[in-house]
Amino acid sequence: MSRTRTARVAAALALLGVIGVAAFLILTRVHPLDATALPDHAPDVAGGEVLFHAGSCGSCHRAADGAPGSAEGLPTGGAGFPTPVGTFYPGNLTPDDETGIGAWTDIDFVNAMSRGISPDGGHYFPAFPYTSFRLMPLEDVLDLRAYLMSLPAVRSPGREPDVPVVGLARRGVGLWKRLAFDDRRFEPDPSRSAAWNRGAYLTNGPGHCGECHTPRTWTMALDESRHLAGGPHPGGEGKVPSLVGLVARGRYKDVADLTLALQFGETFGFDKLSSGGMADIQMNLAKLPDSDVQAISEYLLSLD
Ligand code: HEC
Ligand code: HEC
Repeated sequence: MSRTRTARVAAALALLGVIGVAAFLILTRVHPLDATALPDHAPDVAGGEVLFHAGSCGSCHRAADGAPGSAEGLPTGGAGFPTPVGTFYPGNLTPDDETGIGAWTDIDFVNAMSRGISPDGGHYFPAFPYTSFRLMPLEDVLDLRAYLMSLPAVRSPGREPDVPVVGLARRGVGLWKRLAFDDRRFEPDPSRSAAWNRGAYLTNGPGHCGECHTPRTWTMALDESRHLAGGPHPGGEGKVPSLVGLVARGRYKDVADLTLALQFGETFGFDKLSSGGMADIQMNLAKLPDSDVQAISEYLLSLD
């Protein structure tokens, strides 16, 4: 190859490289909501607490044993959350200004929950189930924030996940969002009862039940054609059972029976409610008002 030819090939490759990097940067940009999207809403702290338990926020965001907040059971973060891509350390959700969400604005919190975007304009990994939380109306997101802001502020610094090439991987989440992330909110079905709709909302939105119970497509999005039909455990812990046809398969007698199972779990002699993260979910569901657990049961038993 002549010198000029080599130089031309090198220049072409460099140009392709620049185009590739530019395309990557453009395709992985964040698309946050603007503060004008916020509804005019007086937050309901008690409603927010229900959503906190429905979402099992306190389980993933729990403190490491013996760390600040662990004795009080506050969501100060820091305990490891292992996934097949690496271990995450969900952060501090108490209103500490420096290490928690104390200095966040409403729109910062809404963008985290609804779009998986951090206040400094980065992407969160979908190990944080914003892929389900995005179904929540913004009023509910603000209620949840008001509840978190009512907790005592505890200093507990966060920690980056142990994920290979974490900076690049985080940016790459932007590509994945283009392929597989849908930011639509929950829409009630007017042909169903208010309880059924409440159950559908709690199950699919804050409850994020589908994150384990719905199998995934090749893009790792939830495969809604097999909604809640069970599949491989996303954390690699065997299989997650189907929630379809629970009565037909003889798993539960009726809504009252499934409600008892969700409220009391295996202590009441029900089985298949303890492994693969389900025990934490069940213990959080036990903190919901009876009517909400009944609503979840009514919705689940309508699936066939
Ligand atoms: C299945 C585990 C899991 C559950 C349940 C969960 N989170 Fe998280 N959350 C995470 C992980 C992991 C991250 C960090 C993601 C990252 O580093 O990109 C995170 C990050 C966040 C952040 C960004 C700030 C921070 O602390 O890192 C907020 C805010 C948040 N979660 C709120 C919530 C709320 C509110 C709930 C309940 C409705 C909730 N999370 C439930 C795993 C979880
Ligand atoms: C972290 C993953 C995960 C999430 C999130 C999750 N589940 Fe489960 N669930 C499981 C696993 C794993 C089992 C099986 C546990 C066992 O066999 O001990 C299970 C079992 C169940 C069962 C028993 C099924 C049967 O055949 O009796 C019900 C009911 C259930 N889950 C409901 C829910 C509801 C409702 C939600 C959302 C509020 C939910 N799950 C969220 C992992 C999850």
